[in-house]
Amino acid sequence: MHLIITNGYEEMSEVGALIFLETLLKKPNSRLGLATGSTPLGLYKKLTEYYKSGFVSFKNAESINLDEYVGLPEGHSQSYRLFMKENLFSKVDIDLKNTYFPDANANDLDKSSKEYSEFLKKKPQDIQLLGLGNNGHIGFNEPGTPFDSVTHKVALTKSTIMANARFFSSEKEVPSEAVTMGIMDIFRAEKIVLLASGVGKANAVKELVNDEPDTKCPASALKYHRDLTVILDTAAASLL
Ligand code: GLP
Repeated sequence: MHLIITNGYEEMSEVGALIFLETLLKKPNSRLGLATGSTPLGLYKKLTEYYKSGFVSFKNAESINLDEYVGLPEGHSQSYRLFMKENLFSKVDIDLKNTYFPDANANDLDKSSKEYSEFLKKKPQDIQLLGLGNNGHIGFNEPGTPFDSVTHKVALTKSTIMANARFFSSEKEVPSEAVTMGIMDIFRAEKIVLLASGVGKANAVKELVNDEPDTKCPASALKYHRDLTVILDTAAASLL
């Protein structure tokens, strides 16, 4: 594991964005595993700047998102597809045809989840971006998820619903279910970049960095991945 402790959110975002830049410059048709949440916003902003300055193009890249809420109508302000459109896709030259999400509104979620996982297995992500839940979740793989899990439907824990309520008008509007890439789908990525900012993440970071992998901290499954970079700000690193 490469551990990078930065001075703050800005620097964390810049270091993460530079790793994505390098990947795209080396391989313009990279398959980018992308994440939502507030943590990656700064990184997406930096990538947009690199694109606008002409350093990089997303024309030949593909994106694969980690997760999506179940039951939100298409175009809902909190759907992860809309989040990605607003924060990255509409600002760079990625072809929307090459942007993929788990189909969380499929009639048969087991079948569509299996297809997403097979799609990833055939051609894993060149790089996977991750945030971190306060409870150590990655994507929506909550504590207790087996490390060999593939894409599946999940019931969100109370703590995740509460943490994500800030994006909705009230807690009861937060969907109770989501479809997420499984831990194994994430682990297959060539390179993984995990960002964590703020003291709320410090305990999960400690479990990931200091402890042996355990399903109580889903992120810890990645500890021995061959190319994992964990980029923190000082608050997220405060318990190390
Ligand atoms: C959500 C997402 C995760 C994200 C996590 C942390 O639950 N499914 O992919 O990493 O929240 O979000 P934030 O970055 O806003 O703290």
